[in-house]
Amino acid sequence: MKLYGQGRAAIADDAATAQRLGWGARRRSRPHPDLILAPREGDPRREPWIAPPWYRPGLGLDLLRRRPASRPHWTYLAEAPGVVRGLGDLAKPVETRSWSVGLAGLGRVGGVAATILAAAPSRLSGIRELLIHDVDAANQQRWLLELGSIARWRGRGELPLVRVARPGEMFTRCDAFLFAATDGVPPLGTRGEVRLVQLAPNRTILSGFLAEARRAAFAGLFLIVSDPVEWLAQSVFFDSNSDRQGRFVGDGMAPERIAGLGLGVMWARSLAAARRQGWSDAVARAGAAYGPHSAEVVAFDDVASPDRKRSERLSRAARECNFKVRDLGHLPYVGPGVSSVGLMLPPLLAGREVLASVFVDGIYFGAPARLTWGLHPTARRMGGEVWTALGGLHARLQTQARALGLLWP
Ligand SMILES: NC(=O)c1ccc[n+]([C@@H]2O[C@H](COP(=O)([O-])OP(=O)(O)OC[C@H]3O[C@@H](n4cnc5c(N)ncnc54)[C@H](O)[C@@H]3O)[C@@H](O)[C@H]2O)c1
Repeated sequence: MKLYGQGRAAIADDAATAQRLGWGARRRSRPHPDLILAPREGDPRREPWIAPPWYRPGLGLDLLRRRPASRPHWTYLAEAPGVVRGLGDLAKPVETRSWSVGLAGLGRVGGVAATILAAAPSRLSGIRELLIHDVDAANQQRWLLELGSIARWRGRGELPLVRVARPGEMFTRCDAFLFAATDGVPPLGTRGEVRLVQLAPNRTILSGFLAEARRAAFAGLFLIVSDPVEWLAQSVFFDSNSDRQGRFVGDGMAPERIAGLGLGVMWARSLAAARRQGWSDAVARAGAAYGPHSAEVVAFDDVASPDRKRSERLSRAARECNFKVRDLGHLPYVGPGVSSVGLMLPPLLAGREVLASVFVDGIYFGAPARLTWGLHPTARRMGGEVWTALGGLHARLQTQARALGLLWP
């Protein structure tokens, strides 16, 4: 096996990619690399570009229930030009895990999320600095002052440093970027769909951030909080990797470095319903939510052996709670800011299992997932009815993605 690259990652038997990276043959004096990556065959429009050794190509949605494989090496798809940024990132030395997090959009949801992140000691959250940005200068200054006013009386453990940053600077500094901006949330009294209607305006806002990310050759995590969560995550992948004619080029963001954060609050709403029934301990242990941050989300009391009635009740709670808050005359944002982002991001960054919408067979799909450089779903034993429901849901979402023009032909 011929290795290339002097960093903590080396690639095996691929002189062409090594040349694109500017990596020479690995010197004998170098220590053995932490990671060896080998090229693999695959479709960069449907599969992660860089995958850990346990990843089994071609499994599609089965990734949600099949146990990981044990292969000797990491793998990558050499034909996506953007993969070189990821390989370069993997080869960098790993500092003691300490993250710089960027957050764009300091509205109701972004503000609550920022508050939780700014109040968690860095040694617990893994976040050393929080870079904030809002297009409204007064609002941005207000949040700088508010977040700067968070401190603990002689508390142990430093809180993250909060600074303002323009998008360009954000992408050169941060390791993970959160997008929580919106052109506008449909007002109270709106009947029906309140998320999908935000796609076109929020995709336009996102395009400015994607241009900055490209300029900075950003290889960090790109996390979507704004609605519609999964379609905006899909837009990041689609728009950053298409040419002007909408053809796949593959020089943008790697799909496994993009994710949506919206399933956390759905699950929290299901758990609240379970608590009211007195089942929450069992549900918290064996249940889970899947699918999008929308009225199509599904929740199960026990993924391996679900009870139909209980699961329906949990799904209904996840789907309807936002309308209940709206009917009381308020927009829901505390549960979302805390459960989808504030309490989800630190374990996500630490590589623990979280709920997130991650790339599964070409689209972003909410599921228990884990960060191993990229974000991948974690498999668990599944009852037949769960598997049937998820298969149908994933297929419907794929059709919808095509209808929205978010899949390449
Ligand atoms: N993921 C979840 O769990 C979840 C839950 C509820 C709502 N949401 C969604 O989160 C998004 C934010 O909701 P909100 O209630 O905080 O909205 P909001 O209107 O209160 O705040 C939006 C913020 O974005 C800022 N903004 C607009 N354009 C910008 C730009 N170009 N650059 C930087 N900032 C910009 C605005 O100035 C404003 O401060 C919405 O799409 C909402 O539907 C997500």
